[in-house]
Amino acid sequence: MKIAVSGKGGVGKTTLAAALAHLYAAEGHTVLAVDADPDANLGMALGVPAERLRDLKSISKMEEIIAERTGARPGSMGGWFSLNPRVDDIPERCWLALGNIRLIVMGGVDAANAGCACPESTFLKALMRNLVIAREEVAILDMEAGLEHLGRGTARGVDAMIVVVEPGKRSIHTAHVIAKMAKDLGINQVFVVANKVRPEDIPLIQDELGELPLIGTIPVDDRLKDADMTGRPPWEMSPELLVHVSFVRDKLSSLLQRG
Ligand SMILES: Nc1ncnc2c1ncn2[C@@H]1O[C@H](COP(=O)(O)OP(=O)(O)OP(=O)(O)O)[C@@H](O)[C@H]1O
Ligand SMILES: [Mg+2]
Repeated sequence: MKIAVSGKGGVGKTTLAAALAHLYAAEGHTVLAVDADPDANLGMALGVPAERLRDLKSISKMEEIIAERTGARPGSMGGWFSLNPRVDDIPERCWLALGNIRLIVMGGVDAANAGCACPESTFLKALMRNLVIAREEVAILDMEAGLEHLGRGTARGVDAMIVVVEPGKRSIHTAHVIAKMAKDLGINQVFVVANKVRPEDIPLIQDELGELPLIGTIPVDDRLKDADMTGRPPWEMSPELLVHVSFVRDKLSSLLQRG
C-alpha cells in the first residue's frame, strides 16, 4: 500500500500522515514514512526524539552520495550527469528507524533548481520512484501541495492520494487543483479527508468538493495543536485521532479492493 497525502499548507497533512503510519505500524507492518515536504516535520509528529532528528540529514543534503551516484555535484547545472542513478541501497542507509517505522526525509531542492533536471532533483526523483515502485513496505508520503519529486512513472505506483482540506473555500480550491494534477500524473484514486471540522461544516464541504469523494472527517480539536506546541505525537494528547484515522484507513482499503 502506497499512500500519498497532500493538501494546502497547514491543513493537517503531517498529522494525518503520521497517524496513518502509526496505525499501519501498530498492526505489524513495516512502514516507510516519507517526508517529501521540503519544510520537513513528519519526524516530530511521529515522536522521534529531538536529538535523533537533529542528527538526521535529509537526502537532498547528502552531497557525497548524490555526486557519487549521479556523477555531478549538487548545485551544478548544464554538465553531464546520470539521469538514472542507482538508489536501491539508499533507503536502508539513510532512514531513521523507530519501531516498525522507517523515516526518510527527502529534503528540499534549492528553489532556483526545483523542478529542473539538476543532480539533486534527479536523485530525489529516482529515490521516490524506488520507494514507491520497488519496495514492499507500506509507504506513507507526506507531500507538499506541489507534488514535487513525484514523476509520472512514480505516480502510477501510488495506490491512492489523500488530499486534506479544512473548512473553507481556499483549501478546497487547492484540493481541486491537486486532484487534477494527481490524475494527470496517473494516480487514479484521489480521495479527500476533511480536517478541523465541526459537524455543521460538513454539508458545505461536500458541496464545494463536488465530484471529489470525501472519505473521512477529523473534528477540530485543540489538543492536536497543543501536541504540536509541545512536540508530542498528536495521538498522545488526543487518542480519538486514531479512531477517526482508522476509519479513513478502513474506507481506503475497502475502496481500493473494489476499485
Ligand atoms: N483536527 C485538528 N484540530 C485542531 N488543530 C489541528 C487539527 N489537525 C491539525 N491541527 C494543527 O494544525 C497545524 C497544522 O497541522 P499539520 O502540521 O499536520 O499540517 P500540514 O498540512 O502538514 O502543514 P504544513 O503545510 O505546514 O506542512 C498543527 O499545529 C496541528 O497540530
Ligand atoms: Mg506538514
